[in-house]
Amino acid sequence: MSVYPIILTQSKFTHHDKLKYPFEERGLQFGDGIYEVIRIYHGNYYLLEEHVNRLFQSADAIKIQLPFNKEEITDLLYELLKKNEMNSDGKVYMQITRGSAPRDHVFPESVMPNIYAYVQDQPRNMTGMENGVHAITHRDIRWENCYIKSLNLLPNVMAKQTAKENGCYEAILHRDGVVTECSSSNVYMVKDGQIYTHPTTNNILHGCVRMAVERFTKDLSIPLIEEGFAVEDIRIADEIFLSSSTSEITPIIKVDNQQIADGKPGKITRQLQEAYELDANIKENRIKHTV
Ligand code: PDD
Repeated sequence: MSVYPIILTQSKFTHHDKLKYPFEERGLQFGDGIYEVIRIYHGNYYLLEEHVNRLFQSADAIKIQLPFNKEEITDLLYELLKKNEMNSDGKVYMQITRGSAPRDHVFPESVMPNIYAYVQDQPRNMTGMENGVHAITHRDIRWENCYIKSLNLLPNVMAKQTAKENGCYEAILHRDGVVTECSSSNVYMVKDGQIYTHPTTNNILHGCVRMAVERFTKDLSIPLIEEGFAVEDIRIADEIFLSSSTSEITPIIKVDNQQIADGKPGKITRQLQEAYELDANIKENRIKHTV
């Protein structure tokens, strides 16, 4: 996936080759920072306002004072696309750390946050969305503030790697037998025409696509119940699906080597995928319902 040449650093635009990497960076030393991954379709942001709001919530939660307001960062992010002449499907990765200072756990007295954002191509995963993907279940060993989109992703990385080593796309995480979310997406179960998903507590990331899913279910009059389901419920589910900015709405058709229902993407998942494509204004290369 190629990175576009112009990078947003602090509030300026720089060519990637001229980028200076800060020394004694707290993001590297402590994971002391936050990030966002924002989807782009046909060169336009999708759910940008939701991402900007969450960025501010994360910054607030770890006491990072952002040097811009929501309007200013929104303008800079649009400028970033313009400067890169971005007009295809992609994503922006934006990272903000507390800054660079001699290593000490305590916050430095006066430090400017290190900010950067870059654009990358990201084609839609049509195969996964059309055919469905496989997942494993995995214990959720993360901390108690998973609603913060923090850089501390080691448990997520380990869980996703285990999924990959088992030939799977995702790891469905569970805490005390209750499914929370996946290693890098939110997860849902459909049973008897109702959708179940973990409530937006501290134990999960409040996904921007999840917010969109909530809207779609209201429009489609599909009940969405914010109630954690048990790992054992997965076996008897009618449908399982996940959501994220990069995976959109993807059916999960096998969990721990066990087929979900008839092993094909379900009807409600398909309805939500259609609603997503409509909402994101995706015109070409739409999901084919062949399975
Ligand atoms: N991941 N839960 C976790 C743990 C995530 O990392 C993500 C996103 C989501 C879905 O959030 P959203 O709908 O806002 O993308 C849920 C991003 C894509 C990532 O880390 O790459």
